[in-house]
Amino acid sequence: MKKIKKLFGKKELDVRVKEISKELYKEYGKKEVVFICTLKGAVFFACDLLKNYKGNARIEFLRASSYSGTKSTGKIELNLSISKDNIENKDVIIIEDIVDTGRTLKFLKEYINDMNPSSLKICTLLNKPSRRVVEINADYVGFEIDDLFVVGYGLDYDQQYRNLPYIGVMEK
Ligand code: IMP
Ligand code: MG
Repeated sequence: MKKIKKLFGKKELDVRVKEISKELYKEYGKKEVVFICTLKGAVFFACDLLKNYKGNARIEFLRASSYSGTKSTGKIELNLSISKDNIENKDVIIIEDIVDTGRTLKFLKEYINDMNPSSLKICTLLNKPSRRVVEINADYVGFEIDDLFVVGYGLDYDQQYRNLPYIGVMEK
């Protein structure tokens, strides 16, 4: 097991996630929102976000992968898709764990946009703006972080550490 230094504790995550849920509800009110949770990383964030969301919500899942170990391969593969019926003319929000190079999100945004949602926004728990290689911005961001490799609360290193209740930095 590698050494992990805590970055955002359970309490801090809880407070921020509740704030985002409220912000989304303020924005969408009575409209029905289709939340797309990207597997596997965003699953903890999406569950907490949606448990606190007071509006009408549907939930869909997508799975794309680009990472191997701590390196982004740059090639995005879609391993689980969604049907256009669930997206067309709907207000859609993609829930991501982290935006790093931005490649995954750019790919997912284009994929969903092709299904003609009436609106499409991005909500990510973490953002690493200094690592961006393609231009993409999230509409809702939990925390901005430096160029660090983080694990926990859904985020993995080679499929490990997702179950940590906090977010920590993996020491090299
Ligand atoms: P991007 O395509 O480079 O923006 O990468 C996005 C995906 O890479 C995220 O959805 C994560 O699954 C993974 N990723 C990026 N940075 C980290 C990290 O610091 N820890 C764990 N996974 C990461
Ligand atoms: Mg991952």
